[in-house]
Amino acid sequence: MPQPAVAADDPSPSIPPTPAVGRSVPRKDAAEKVSGEAKYVDDLTLPGMLWGRTVRSTVPRARIKAVRLCFDTAGFTVVDHTDIPGRNVVALIEEDQPFLAAGEVRHIAEPILLLAHEDRDTLMAAKVEIDYEILPPVLDMLASTEALKRLSIDKGDLEAGFAEADLVLEGEYRTGSQEHVYIETNGMIAVPEPDGGITLMGSLQCPYYVHKAIKPLMDLPGDRVRIVQAETGGGFGGKEEYPSLIAGHAALLARKSGRPVKIVYDRGEDMWATTKRHPAIVRHRTGVTRDGRLTAMEVDVVMDGGAYVTLSPVVLSRGCIHAAGAYRCDHVRITGRAMRTDTPPNGAFRGFGAPQTLFAVEAHMDRIAEALGMDPVELRERNALRPGDTTATGQEMQEDCAALDVLREAVERTDFHRKREEYRGTGRGIGLSLFFHGSGFTGSGEVRLASRAALEATETGVRILVGSSEIGQGTRTMHAQIVADAMGLPYEQVETALPDTAKVPDSGPTVASRTCMVVGKILQNCAAEMISRLGGLTPMEYARRHGPLVVSQDYVPPGDVKWDDDTYKGEAYAHYGWGCNVAEVEIDPDTFEARCTAFTAVEDVGKAIHPVLVRGQIEGGSAQGIGWALNERVVLVEGAMANATLTNYTIPTTLDTPPMDIVIMERPGKHGPHGAKGVGEMPIDGPAPAVVNAIRHAGLDVREIPATPEVLMAAAPSEEAACASS
Ligand code: MOS
Repeated sequence: MPQPAVAADDPSPSIPPTPAVGRSVPRKDAAEKVSGEAKYVDDLTLPGMLWGRTVRSTVPRARIKAVRLCFDTAGFTVVDHTDIPGRNVVALIEEDQPFLAAGEVRHIAEPILLLAHEDRDTLMAAKVEIDYEILPPVLDMLASTEALKRLSIDKGDLEAGFAEADLVLEGEYRTGSQEHVYIETNGMIAVPEPDGGITLMGSLQCPYYVHKAIKPLMDLPGDRVRIVQAETGGGFGGKEEYPSLIAGHAALLARKSGRPVKIVYDRGEDMWATTKRHPAIVRHRTGVTRDGRLTAMEVDVVMDGGAYVTLSPVVLSRGCIHAAGAYRCDHVRITGRAMRTDTPPNGAFRGFGAPQTLFAVEAHMDRIAEALGMDPVELRERNALRPGDTTATGQEMQEDCAALDVLREAVERTDFHRKREEYRGTGRGIGLSLFFHGSGFTGSGEVRLASRAALEATETGVRILVGSSEIGQGTRTMHAQIVADAMGLPYEQVETALPDTAKVPDSGPTVASRTCMVVGKILQNCAAEMISRLGGLTPMEYARRHGPLVVSQDYVPPGDVKWDDDTYKGEAYAHYGWGCNVAEVEIDPDTFEARCTAFTAVEDVGKAIHPVLVRGQIEGGSAQGIGWALNERVVLVEGAMANATLTNYTIPTTLDTPPMDIVIMERPGKHGPHGAKGVGEMPIDGPAPAVVNAIRHAGLDVREIPATPEVLMAAAPSEEAACASS
């Protein structure tokens, strides 16, 4: 909605602007995107630009014996690992992944050789033959003996807890891989600079991750490496670490050819070669009293990390910290390991390990309720975390702990108990899930990141300088709202600079539901400092009289967030969001296809800075979670995706997505701006267990996802299966 224009040179606007926070103001990126003016990497063309292509391994594990170029190489640039000026490692957590295979390959689709040519068809037609000495691959995480990361969380005395139990229930729960299917595939352009430096423009979440990876690869100092985010069509974690690899490839080709080089993956290559969600196997052993009190929880988490470490330690960490669910229990042991396999590395995906472990605990809770003959809502009410309770890591819950609130609201508005009775024996089912999600990196992670943000007073208003990226989720809009209100300026007078490492500070990666709570908070602090330095002038007046003013602030860790990485004890995250999902399903008695027919999400986000964007996150994350639960099956053959097309890796369309009832709850946390706690990831935590619990209610004991018709049929009592197959 348009606001009254405030003249930029009005010395003292006496009417304060309408606050922007809490209103669904127009998106900062809307006009350019809907008009087609926004430039994605594939829209950019530079003079003399070449196209780049990656030649990849077609076997999971082998020594490379010979590489033969079976084409006329005139006009081609060819790069292999011997062309790397610096170090052949993708710098991130561990330095184990090469940019280009040097002598051996560890997974299908591993990059071996790079080609560039000015004509794309000529480039794509070039034939390369590779001779391998095949080695036996490890493709199964349970068969792997090589752990990329192990960790454990201990609370209380597990044996004492089991001794108190009237019932001990065990179970194993499996979750499959998942492809991000961002609308825009990965792409990058590298431009060689006259001073020997390199500029990269592309589709990415984290400009400073790319910066960190390119410096050692190209053996360049930080000021000769410049990373610029092009307009980015979705990320979901898939553009968290992977862009470093494609950026490195483009940079190597640009350096050797002396010309700009563009690499854009088509959908098939993007699905085949890039990171996915970690498949997981989670085992629970739980002690419970007859009246439903959890006395002991033993959880073992195994994740398939793939061939290289990438972000697996962090994904495992978040998975384990959430593994006991939104419940209080005095005696808990959680063990986790991410195993190395000869498969394409798995990486960041919305939720970062938590959806896998929350699926397990929530499916397990319904089995416990069933074993006790208890209502699943009552079991959850009995054990849900309340203010003053502690999590598995010993973190005490604050006043904003909304587990019971979201549960009760969801149960009431869905008429859960009536439908639970009504659907019995009809082929329909209704189920729910209760979940939480920690915002930001773990306590120690946010301290290590030492994020920084800045604000600049300009002649037209205020410009935000952050490394945070807009990837469709609304970063620019949400940050501008927070800054507008903190400065007392109209929203229209706040703009955001393009994320460009030559111009913006490192605000930490755009991941982990941290962009509002953490970076938004730093911006609020910047605004306070700017106001104190303006001496009563508006930013515009100041800039006209004295020139631009830039203030920057570093992240200040909250004093009450104390986390010990060695013992895994303490305040894992500054805040948690809370959610309850209710799913209704219909199961086709002939095909065993489960359809989600209605979906309710009640989610506490602390404060919805922009209610429409928050709803968008919840609707999108819920649809993605329903897809993961029912449709999205990554078929792995020799460790690689065999169904790397959208015709047989099917994500939910609008026709598959049920009507959604979304309720935003606001239980403010004390550290985020306006109490905001984050919403990016949480919505994908709850749908899969709610759907599977609804399938359980309909009579099928399913403990894995995707819950395809084959899985449902296998779970059916035998006469039903016989009936369906006759
Ligand atoms: Mo994310 S999965 O924290 O980009």
